[in-house]
Amino acid sequence: MRIAIGSDHGGIVLKPAILAYLKEKNIEYFDFGTFDTASVDYPVYAKKVAEAVASGEFDKGILLCGTGIGMSIAANKVKGIRAAVLSDEFSAAACSAHNNANVLCLGGRVISPEKAVKLADLWLSTPFEGDRHMRRLGLIAEMDERK
Ligand code: RB5
Repeated sequence: MRIAIGSDHGGIVLKPAILAYLKEKNIEYFDFGTFDTASVDYPVYAKKVAEAVASGEFDKGILLCGTGIGMSIAANKVKGIRAAVLSDEFSAAACSAHNNANVLCLGGRVISPEKAVKLADLWLSTPFEGDRHMRRLGLIAEMDERK
């Protein structure tokens, strides 16, 4: 499992805890930045991470911004990306089980680092259920094709 990470200045507060969690779990990652709290444009990082996942170079991506919303809007513009922004445990499991989300978006101004780790762990450890959800993801993939 290889994970691509991206953040803006609003999400960087969550990054140390997420990286520590990935290290502890022996999950390989690459950090696409940003690396400090200077103001940057979140779509730049969303594009880097989403394209790295869509190309198959990475299995999944984690994007951090103030709310997670901007990162999810931008990442979902890339074909093949199913980015989910979350702040609760139920959705963290459901976005894997039902939506097979390949990018997780979290907000540094919304949740604590501890909560971010909990949500990332649920997202990574919950398997996709397939079955009827495959059909639904197929309908989304058709939308990607018609772009
Ligand atoms: C940056 O101020 C903020 O807009 C960004 O981090 C994010 O919350 C956007 O959705």
